[in-house]
Amino acid sequence: MFYSAIRKVFFKFDPEVIHELTIKGFKTTGASPLNRLYKQTVPNKPVEVMGINFPNPVGLAAGLDKNGECIKAFEAMGFGFVEVGTVTPRPQAGNDKPRIFRLPEANAIINRMGFNNKGVDYLVDQVIKAKYSGILGINIGKNKDTPDEHAKDDYIHCMRKVYDFATYITVNISSPNTPGLRSLQYGDALNELLSALKAEQTALAEQYGKYVPVAVKIAPDLNAEEVNSIAECLIANNIDGVIATNTTLARDKVAHLPFGNEQGGLSGAPVKEKSTEVIQLLAKALDNKLPIIGVGGIASGADAQEKIDAGAKLVQVYTGFIYQGPQLIKDIVQTLK
Ligand SMILES: Cc1cc2nc3c(=O)[nH]c(=O)nc-3n(C[C@H](O)[C@H](O)[C@H](O)COP(=O)(O)O)c2cc1C
Repeated sequence: MFYSAIRKVFFKFDPEVIHELTIKGFKTTGASPLNRLYKQTVPNKPVEVMGINFPNPVGLAAGLDKNGECIKAFEAMGFGFVEVGTVTPRPQAGNDKPRIFRLPEANAIINRMGFNNKGVDYLVDQVIKAKYSGILGINIGKNKDTPDEHAKDDYIHCMRKVYDFATYITVNISSPNTPGLRSLQYGDALNELLSALKAEQTALAEQYGKYVPVAVKIAPDLNAEEVNSIAECLIANNIDGVIATNTTLARDKVAHLPFGNEQGGLSGAPVKEKSTEVIQLLAKALDNKLPIIGVGGIASGADAQEKIDAGAKLVQVYTGFIYQGPQLIKDIVQTLK
């Protein structure tokens, strides 16, 4: 009720302006008594995944808090885990504005942000300042101007920087808004990247005396054969988890709507089915060898249960959270069996 009134006002303004204002608001209030504006108690529903004990299985998906500035605010809302990023080695501006569009008729968003972020050093600084003791995923990517053949170096650079501060690290190879990024999901390119990252993780585990799991985030726009070959490669390289899925390039469900043909990645209700299908395919191919984190179009407890039934062990939300606010976290935790 309260959030739907706020949303009505927010949705009258440009999405990115509101995004920036909210981030500023959460950044200032996250660790202060003012956080009671959105603080809530969410029941405990512990689950162990990738060797980590999660207080509940509902996480914030990457991209909302790209620079790790609002971790305490999301903790106060009751998220079982928070994923920050995508962060790149060097700061970058991202694509030209406007680059984010609401499609309220479809409970969806199209974005082509292009990894706008303040760089990995800034993010690490924010994480240290937050003094957060909960579960933190740090999602890493490559700079736009790094040639594809050096993509691996960007991931390794970020991995080294964040290793000591992350509970798990997500390797994002599925954003549609960085040219060439999604090609890392296939064949030799994927195998080379994952084997290099595994070797780095092993070295870092030795150096820091602790093992930080690595998950890979994939796109929904993959056919069964492609999903199977990704699964095979994840198993072969001993990757710890997979996040399915990122946003879709498909427009069949929204092409008739205002902004429905904007370039970028589509999220929210229209990607729900596709994400679930990818999770089902992955679950079959992975045969419980590594866990799946399900994300894409979750806007209710029932949607989240669908992802769990398809084979996910944890879920994440982004667009549903924008449309429904913090109450969604509680609804999902209460509904999940
Ligand atoms: C505005 C926006 C920015 C996003 N940025 C990122 C990002 O930087 N890294 C990433 O891995 N995913 C990013 N995502 C994808 C989400 O994390 C999520 O995978 C996707 O939106 C599907 O979930 P949803 O339907 O709950 O939004 C972004 C999504 C949106 C809407």
